[in-house]
Order: sequence, then structure tokens, then C-alpha cells
Amino acid sequence: MGSILVTGGTGYLGSFTTLALLQAGYKVVAIDNLHNSCSESLNRIELICGKRPEFYELDITDEAALDGVFSEHSDIEGVIHFAALKSVGESSEIPLNYYHVNIYGTIVLLRCMARHNVTNLVFSSSATVYGDATRFPDMIPIPEDCPREPENPYGRTKHVVELLIKDHFEAQARQAKRRACDRNGKQWNAALLRYFNPCGAHPSGIMGEDPRGGSLNLIPVLGHVAVGKLEKLSVFGDDYDSIDGTMIRDYIHVLDLADGHLAALKYLQVAQPGVRAWNLGSGTGTTVYQMLKAFSRAAGRDIPYQVVGRRAGDVLNLTARASRATDELQWTTRLTLEDACADFWRWISNNPKGYDQDPPAILVKR
Ligand code: NAD
Ligand code: WQD
Repeated sequence: MGSILVTGGTGYLGSFTTLALLQAGYKVVAIDNLHNSCSESLNRIELICGKRPEFYELDITDEAALDGVFSEHSDIEGVIHFAALKSVGESSEIPLNYYHVNIYGTIVLLRCMARHNVTNLVFSSSATVYGDATRFPDMIPIPEDCPREPENPYGRTKHVVELLIKDHFEAQARQAKRRACDRNGKQWNAALLRYFNPCGAHPSGIMGEDPRGGSLNLIPVLGHVAVGKLEKLSVFGDDYDSIDGTMIRDYIHVLDLADGHLAALKYLQVAQPGVRAWNLGSGTGTTVYQMLKAFSRAAGRDIPYQVVGRRAGDVLNLTARASRATDELQWTTRLTLEDACADFWRWISNNPKGYDQDPPAILVKR
């Protein structure tokens, strides 16, 4: 088996996917500039599976440095591209940074891949590309062909990158066909994976999400209330058109999400589909109140909350139609919301300082 290059490899989803790749027998080369993560995640990967990726601290927009990594690892046979800025709110404050890292960073990566004849790419897209899909009532749960009309700069960067990957890969494929020597050569394949709401942690309790600037997402906030770091959860509106008035999301355990990347990679290598999009979600919608209840059960305590006004930019329902990934990638979620809450609780309650502390000895396998 060759190597897989994972960009953003020390981040939340990148580190879990790196772990899954190593456990499946791949060699992994990881790059990250540590803007929103730290290299301790690599130690945790090694504690869990006894292997670690080869790591380079570099910026995705540094073409010479990235090219050097491809040169050093001529066995790279595919790329999984996580490196990006990902905060919806921040993207409205500093949109140029988002366009630079997310779009220009991808252009740099694609140029390096072309120079080194690496032709399989898995890209981290997002359900955010759909914008407010509730405008199309027959499009809930959301299929991949739902119109993409993102409503914030972050979502627009993901949409643009999807388009530029398609344009570039199709052009590369046409050029390869024209070159006589490449008539039977490699195809250019990309999986555009649109994640819904990834959550959870490793069941060992020693690996989880630890963004450098904290997280305002629902489950991390619930965790912080449960350990007393926050007084209460602010529920962003309970007057929506749902079973209990709160918004609906499709939460997916990070271990399932990581497996989805391996399934996509394998599919690209075997089926050679060109560029194709897949939703990675469970297909099940959960309201904020349902999540509150599930997390309270996992933590074994009541979580105080207060209903506040609606959050700008929120949409009522983001639930995936997940059948394309099941039918084509032979992938489906195996873990439940209860698993995600229990695993996240084990992580946050045992590691109050995240990766800035040693893992509790009792949780580390000997
Ligand atoms: P994350 O912030 O933990 O991981 C992203 C990684 O990219 C970080 O480690 C960060 O340091 C790195 N990075 C940022 N800028 C970089 C640069 N210029 N050069 C090199 N590395 C850089 O976020 P995540 O939750 O793991 O998300 C991974 C990917 O999945 C992102 O592309 C994100 O947009 C996408 N995504 C995430 C979610 C989610 O809810 N977590 C949902 C949909 C899509
Ligand atoms: C979930 C629900 C909130 C916090 C975000 C990004 C999306 C994707 C995944 C990257 C919503 C409600 C939350 C709180 C609350 N990331 N909530 N009180 O907004 O669905 O998706 O992460 O691509 O692009 O936007 O996730 O966890 O912030 O919110 O009531 O303190 O919980 O309103 O209904 P979201 P979230």
C-alpha cells in the first residue's frame, strides 16, 4: 500500500481519519500549520494504534514546501484534504483569509498533485453548501443534487472549491486522454464529501476535539456547561417549525465520518468515478432539545439552559439524504447519538485541558 497525504492532519477530523488510515494499514503523511490544532494529537494516535504519521508543519499555501513533501514521498497515491479555516462567524469578519486559505490553498495542492501525477483526491466539503434547503420542501432530507446556495463566506469557499476541483480534474482528464502515452493512464477522481454535523470522540477517552480557540458548536458547549465552565446553554430559538420548536441537525460520530473517508478513497481507486459528491450524514434529524436530553443522560446530570433569540444565519433543518453513500460507497453510520454523547463526555470530563495535559494514566492502554 502506498502513502496517503492528509492535509490538516492534526485537526479534529484529520487526526481521526489519520488514525483510521493507519489502523487500515495505510502509511500516512500529514501536514498542518497548527493554526487550530496541536501535534499532541499525533501522540494520541500512536498511543491508540502504535503507529504515527510522518508529520510536516507547513502552510498549505506554501507551494515550495508542499511540493517538497510530494518529492520526498513518491509513493503518495491519494490525498485527503482537510486543511481549511472553518468558522462560519469568523468567515464574515475576515473573508479574505478564508478565500486565501481555503481556495488558494486548494489551488496550490492541486498544482502539486498534477506535477507529481497524484490523481485521487478526497475533499472536505460541508452541508453548509446547501444553504437553507428548507426552501425546497421536497429536498428534506437533503439529496446531493439539492441546489447549492451557501449563505456565508465559509460556505461559499467550499462551494467554489467543489467547482474548481471539477473544472481542474476534467481538464486534466481531457489532457491525459490527448497524450498518446497516457491513453491507458490514470483517471482523475475526486470525492466531494459533504459532512453534516460531526461530533464525538474516541471511546478510549484520550482523543477528541481540541480547537485552539475553543468551540461554539452545540456539543462542546453542552460539555462545558456539564463540567461547570459555562453557566448554561443558550438555546438559539424554540419557535421553529419542528417537533419541539428547536432546530434539527444530522449529527454523525467522528469515527463513522473517518470510515467514510476510507470508503470514498477505496471507491475512487476501484470505480474511477471522476468527480462526484456524497453526503456524509446519518440521515436522522435531532433537535437541540433532543440533543440536550441525550447529553444530560450521558453526563448523568441536568444541564441548565435558557432560550435566547434566534442565531443569525441558522437554518431550520439540515438532515442528509444518506442513500448515495450507502449504495455506492457501501458506507453507513454504525454509531448512535448516544455513543457520540458518551464518548464526548468521557473525553471532556477526563481531559479538562484537552491536549494541553497528559492523558489520564487510567485510560491509557499498557
Ligand atoms: P480543524 O480546524 O480541527 O482542522 C483543520 C486543520 O487545518 C487544523 O488542524 C488547522 O490547523 C489546519 N489549517 C488551517 N489553516 C491551514 C493552513 N493555511 N495550512 C495548513 N493547515 C491549516 O477542523 P475540522 O473540524 O477537523 O475540519 C476539517 C475540515 O472539514 C475542514 O476543511 C472543515 O471545513 C471541514 N468541515 C468540518 C465540519 C465540522 O463541523 N467539524 C463540518 C463540515 C466540514
Ligand atoms: C447546532 C444546533 C444551533 C450552540 C456548524 C457549521 C457548519 C458545519 C458544522 C463546518 C443549531 C444550536 C448551538 C449553542 C444552540 N461546520 N445551538 N446553542 O451551526 O449546525 O453547523 O458546524 O462546515 O458549517 O455552521 O452547528 O453545533 O453550532 O449548532 O442552540 O450554544 O445547535 O442553533 O441549531 P451548525 P452548531
